[in-house]
Amino acid sequence: MSKEILLKDLNEDLAAELGTIIRYNYQAGKSFGLLGTELREMFEDEIKDELGHARFLTDVIVDLGGEPVTNPKSFDKSVDIKEMLEVDLRMEEEDVKNYLQHSKDAEELGFVELKMKLEEMSADEAGHARELRRLLKGL
Ligand SMILES: [Fe+2]
Ligand SMILES: [Fe+2]
Repeated sequence: MSKEILLKDLNEDLAAELGTIIRYNYQAGKSFGLLGTELREMFEDEIKDELGHARFLTDVIVDLGGEPVTNPKSFDKSVDIKEMLEVDLRMEEEDVKNYLQHSKDAEELGFVELKMKLEEMSADEAGHARELRRLLKGL
């Protein structure tokens, strides 16, 4: 593991966070009816978390001498609620895995704060995934 590889990975994480913010914003706008009300609330809460993650990653990338990306990762634009939530669940689970791996990589390089923070972000994403599973069970 090198700092350069970690920087590349953190930039991929950042692009994923930017994509999630845009995806949740889009999906909130496309959620209608009674279930839609619950979804909009969840998306709004999670957008705040993802924005916090994106802000942290941006600061860390700059601090490590990298150049933060500004282009979001693209996503499947589904308007079917079940499909939408399944995409979200898949992406959150991917984030859990990526943050755990990058946390280990940061530890290997001796970046203690980064290691702990990435682990915490992995736990945040696991919480988002749990919330999505709960909603999907009702569909
Ligand atoms: Fe996130
Ligand atoms: Fe998330």
